[in-house]
Amino acid sequence: MKLFSRKKDAVVGVDISATAIKLIELEKKKSGYRLKAFANIPLPRDAIVENTVIDSIAVSQALLDAVEESGTKVKNVAIAVSGNALIIKTIQVPTTTEFELEAQISFEADQHVPFDIEDVYSDFQILGVNEDDPEVMDVVLVACKREVVDDYQLVLSEAGLITTCVDCAVFAIENAAEELGLLDVSSIELDAAEALDSDSEEGGAVALVNIGANIINVNILCNGKMMFVRDQFYGGQNLTELIQKAHAISFSAAEEMKKQSIAMVDSNVIAEFYDNLGSEISRSLDFYSANNTEDPVQSIMLSGGCALLPNIDLELYNRLGIEVRIFNPFEYIEVSPQGLDIEAVRAIGPMMVVPVGLAMRSFD
Ligand SMILES: Nc1ncnc2c1ncn2[C@@H]1O[C@H](COP(=O)(O)OP(=O)(O)OP(=O)(O)O)[C@@H](O)[C@H]1O
Ligand SMILES: [Mg+2]
Repeated sequence: MKLFSRKKDAVVGVDISATAIKLIELEKKKSGYRLKAFANIPLPRDAIVENTVIDSIAVSQALLDAVEESGTKVKNVAIAVSGNALIIKTIQVPTTTEFELEAQISFEADQHVPFDIEDVYSDFQILGVNEDDPEVMDVVLVACKREVVDDYQLVLSEAGLITTCVDCAVFAIENAAEELGLLDVSSIELDAAEALDSDSEEGGAVALVNIGANIINVNILCNGKMMFVRDQFYGGQNLTELIQKAHAISFSAAEEMKKQSIAMVDSNVIAEFYDNLGSEISRSLDFYSANNTEDPVQSIMLSGGCALLPNIDLELYNRLGIEVRIFNPFEYIEVSPQGLDIEAVRAIGPMMVVPVGLAMRSFD
């Protein structure tokens, strides 16, 4: 589901986030996907804060650099929104047709969205008839503050790019996992069964967890069906700040230490970060399991920049008791553009899941 989508043309996926502009163009082949264009351009700190473009000159310059470095010729882009500006809710409405719901969706949105309905873009997707009450159907409602989308569109247009698709980060991540065959029921059941030494129960859900600088995007799916989504506020920047404080160094030095020489970081700091991160993720898992006792989460697929932290899978497994796998889309996508350091691109694959999922909107 997209907040809006105008044309059927090819798009590049552009993730405008707290720390970087990430751009991906894909080609669909018979046997899967091939990476056609790639860029990851860091943004100055505080250029974008909580979805608000503060330094539009820096952001549009980074977009221009991303286009140039990637070599893409495509001008249409798919972008993602997340965080506080976005509401995603499963609601129940009297059973009707998609056409009729279209006409009354802003009335429904008005009931369920805590913003003025004039100030949001909204969309919906019918999931199907409610299991307990055949008179109503379950509908996913999405609404995002217009100012956030309009801000992004403005900086994109300043860089000569046209926004043709606005998606939600959680759905882009799901799209990437689904398109790469990672949500196939058979593969989940097989892996889950392996993880539990084959004495597993039937069913079972998978949690897609993307940990960025400030936001954790959580999307829990059962048999490929979205059961729970949430954006939480914690991430890699919190670890950098803990390092900064404990070692009395600058933010940028702490960031460098985290990425280049984490073994030098005080182990209490690392433990504190993982304890906090584990508690945050637990809150979503607990919320899900309270409402879905029959289909426990059996594995977590981890992406985002924090998935590059050494041993994060083990650290989270120790705290959550659930198998954690790192989701690197470039294990499944052919990476061969000329002039690219292929190993370096593969190494940051988990950080590129959102733009990969966005780029796949070309082939919907
Ligand atoms: N090699 C690495 N080791 C550890 N942490 C890393 C590494 N590379 C990036 N990070 C951290 O990952 C975070 C950035 O991840 P990501 O690009 O997924 O976030 P973002 O999309 O910019 O932010 P958000 O989604 O929260 O708005 C930063 O905190 C960064 O320090
Ligand atoms: Mg992100």
